[in-house]
Amino acid sequence: MAEKKGVILSGMRPTGLLHLGNLFGALENWVRLQEEYHCYFCVVDWHALTTAYEDPGDIRGSVREMVIDWLSCGIDPEKSVVFRQSDVKEHAELHLLLSMITPLPWLERCPTYKEQLQHAGERNLATYGFLGYPLLQTADILIYRADAVPVGEDQAPHIEMCRELARRFNHLYGKKVFPEPATILNEYKTVPGLDNRKMSKSYNNVIEISVPPEEIYNRVRMMITDPGRIRKDDPGNPDVCSVFAFHGIFNREELAGIRSSCKRGEIGCVQCKKNLASRMQDFLAPIHEKRRELEKDRDRVDAILEDGKARAQQAARETMEDVRSAMGL
Ligand code: TRP
Ligand code: SF4
Repeated sequence: MAEKKGVILSGMRPTGLLHLGNLFGALENWVRLQEEYHCYFCVVDWHALTTAYEDPGDIRGSVREMVIDWLSCGIDPEKSVVFRQSDVKEHAELHLLLSMITPLPWLERCPTYKEQLQHAGERNLATYGFLGYPLLQTADILIYRADAVPVGEDQAPHIEMCRELARRFNHLYGKKVFPEPATILNEYKTVPGLDNRKMSKSYNNVIEISVPPEEIYNRVRMMITDPGRIRKDDPGNPDVCSVFAFHGIFNREELAGIRSSCKRGEIGCVQCKKNLASRMQDFLAPIHEKRRELEKDRDRVDAILEDGKARAQQAARETMEDVRSAMGL
């Protein structure tokens, strides 16, 4: 008998266009995992509201854009369940029921909570919804009885809390309703931003995967090179240069050659950047092609989300039957 495939769930907040950091930091792993697991990929629109509640903008539109980004990068709706969190109301019910058994200190001591509160700026994040962010995430995961969750390192404490809650639930109600999901740390190719810090929307240093081809060189031009290099025949240090780090992702064949000619002052930064921009254009061309097709085909994206909703709901409803019955409801 064929072994039953493990279940994976992961999610992203629809907070804007996917960028290269998301692609190499997360999505590439998802695409790979689809081959071996039964995957649920969820656009977590409720989570977007936990911080952006005052000015939500067009979350619905952002969900669509995110799905289009995912599909154009290789998420396959035939293999994986692609859906919107708010389409499966059972997540909210499980969130509520789990809140009954969640000790407040588990939420309060969460490192992401403490850190984000400090960086809240103008926003008032002293809300119930924001405190409960990792609990909603726990509900997202447990409702599909996921065996594993691929996430970045920053999310590891949330998955740890999810395991603790699964254990607590099973223990309190004497039934093994939930497995304890493992964390799969995304194999992370560090993607530097244009300014050599990590690529992140909050630093405003990203390259979106949907960046128009004619704009790519402009972004590359803004990248920070070895600041010690003034003239083009000065010897350079590729290890402090963002352009070089990007060659490591998009142009591996030439990497060693670029390193040595940079060090010997044999190539100019302008030429080096033009070369990189053209590699990136080649890499992004097929992604853009798919993106354009999907943008034209609204019905197809809607149909994928409808189908994802139906498949996710079915699994979620089955779990909720067990949850309600375990809790005596
Ligand atoms: N908290 C995650 C993030 O900010 C997004 C998320 C929500 C998630 N629910 C999830 C990730 C469930 C994995 C599994 O990146
Ligand atoms: Fe960076 Fe290339 Fe300039 Fe060297 S030649 S500093 S690798 S851009």
